[in-house]
Amino acid sequence: MAIKKVAVIGAGLMGTGITQVIAGAGFPVIWQDVSVQQLENGMDRIEKVLSKQVSKQKIDNNHKVKTLSNISITQELKAVSDVDLLIEAIPEDINLKQTIFSQVSKLVQPNCILVTNTSGLSITAIAAVTTCPQKVIGAHFFYPAPLMGLVEIIPGLATSKETVEEIGQFIKDIGKTPVHCYDYPGFIVNRLLIPLVNEAIFMVMEGNAPETVDAAMRLGANHPMGPIALADYVGLDTLLATMEGLYTGFKDPKYRPCPLLVKKVEAGHLGRKSGQGFYQYDTNGN
Ligand code: CAA
Ligand code: NAD
Repeated sequence: MAIKKVAVIGAGLMGTGITQVIAGAGFPVIWQDVSVQQLENGMDRIEKVLSKQVSKQKIDNNHKVKTLSNISITQELKAVSDVDLLIEAIPEDINLKQTIFSQVSKLVQPNCILVTNTSGLSITAIAAVTTCPQKVIGAHFFYPAPLMGLVEIIPGLATSKETVEEIGQFIKDIGKTPVHCYDYPGFIVNRLLIPLVNEAIFMVMEGNAPETVDAAMRLGANHPMGPIALADYVGLDTLLATMEGLYTGFKDPKYRPCPLLVKKVEAGHLGRKSGQGFYQYDTNGN
């Protein structure tokens, strides 16, 4: 089946980058979120990034105009009914995701592939609430999606071979590199990366300055950004939900979320997206 039209659900950090990548690769995208503000902020962000690329002669103005014209924003979930591929990027909460998947599986055509961008929740459990578990699969993009090359492909227990092949081809068509993973909490990257970031937050709780931990890992391990800066960058709510997914999924205490991370989320200090996390940010996220 040829994928011609795509829907993205969620206009936060990930939905924005994924929409930019797919629209930029030439596909019409229906972009849905419950919040108009989030959709407008997302369009504004994509417009700014593309304008910067035009001014630096990385893309021409036609490409920018075409990319933006490929995107239609909506608050109406039923607008997704005629797409061939739907990608969900709403918060990391199994109940929220199951509710959306149950709804969209009744709205879309039987051939539509339903993708979750979950950071580590069970694809099998998300697929199980739908009318078409064979069409449900994980495709885990990384933040920021336009700059990160990898997409993890995660079939659930009921996902068909055709769905795995079709989504793998689509990921290559939009210029990313797929790797295939098994459906266990955190897949590959987050099972390794998120506990590292959580452990760095324990070190801050024990009294180390965030700047010190970050400098140590930038200079001593050549990480492009330190783990505390990375925590703020991806969002502390997403980080906590991913740690909790590992903890409950494996029932192993080595994945316990750091109490300081829990406290930050309780305070609404979610990192760059809320203006305050371990560091403070201006309205441009700098
Ligand atoms: N689209 C296109 N270009 C963009 C862009 C976008 N959305 N955002 C920024 N850019 C451009 C910038 O304008 C800049 O262009 P110029 O060089 O022409 O100025 C270029 O990309 C590089 O931007 P930066 O100067 O900000 O880049 P950097 O060298 O500091 O690298 C980074 C930024 C790639 C994010 C790097 O810091 C990095 O790799 N950080 C780690 C990211 C990471 O680990 N991500 C995974 C997080 S975990 C996850 O995603 C999984 C999960 O489930 C939580
Ligand atoms: P975010 O908080 O930035 O954005 C979530 C968006 O979902 C918001 O715009 C919100 O309005 C919208 N939303 C909430 N409920 C909705 C609903 N019922 N219907 C439609 N829209 C709804 O979150 P994010 O960082 O973009 O993460 C989204 C997903 O991607 C999560 O599962 C997360 O674990 C995963 N992920 C995140 C990252 C990251 O670095 N932040 C990386 C890879 C994967």
